[in-house]
Amino acid sequence: MNANFEKQVLISGNWKMNENHFEALRLVQELSALLHLPNGETVLSESVMVSIHPTFTSIRTVQTAIESDHVPVFLGAQNCHYIDKGAYTGEISPDMLAKLGVQYVITGHSERRQYFFETDEIVRKKVDAILRHGMHPILCVGESMEERNSGKAYNKVKEQLKAIFSARSVEETLRIVIAYEPIWAIGSGMTATSGDAEDMCAYIRKEIGELVGPEVTDGILIQYGGSANEQNAGDLLSQSNIDGLLVGGASLDAKKFVAICRSV
Ligand code: 13P
Repeated sequence: MNANFEKQVLISGNWKMNENHFEALRLVQELSALLHLPNGETVLSESVMVSIHPTFTSIRTVQTAIESDHVPVFLGAQNCHYIDKGAYTGEISPDMLAKLGVQYVITGHSERRQYFFETDEIVRKKVDAILRHGMHPILCVGESMEERNSGKAYNKVKEQLKAIFSARSVEETLRIVIAYEPIWAIGSGMTATSGDAEDMCAYIRKEIGELVGPEVTDGILIQYGGSANEQNAGDLLSQSNIDGLLVGGASLDAKKFVAICRSV
């Protein structure tokens, strides 16, 4: 990354399957109180953007609270289908999310790849659909512990990137956020060292440059995710190739999440 370029940071809170809509409302109200100064201005530095990703049942409630309280966060979702409408019982379409003001949609999360059998092919269709509806995909990639220990981590991530970025335009690429989430670090308390996370994020930047073109390397936004918390956030974010964090557990605690957002 160009050292003269003041980097824009995106901190995203993935609430996963937590918080019913009453709890979600309370959480967003707590965030609102902590993110605002008494004069109504935000405590966040200008370079920091924040997104929160409630469950589908809470999105409307959270959207209303964000709008009425002017909470300085973007609304996000955790998943969507890739088809706009039709006979897909139980699914939520990207069009429905866009109409609710959702701006960021997580896709390719390892939990969905593992428990819901989402393949790279499905993830690509979802990325395309999210982009088509004017939203930003947050594309998760990352290796298992076994893959890391057997020296296959970089190859695994390279294959996941190839599936999404080959034959992808510069314009679309710059709208995709990439989240490097080593599977072994998720929910385990075992954060990757900032050096290991930085090395993989630098590799991701280089690979996407090779797949799409050198003009994207400065502009793409790459997050790290996996046991990020208020203690390790500053160190992770000080790495030149880490442009944000995708936070699970610690995003359910308003104080911790705001401390992470303020650690840039
Ligand atoms: P934790 O922060 O709980 O490890 O979760 C990370 C994650 O999976 C975010 O998408």
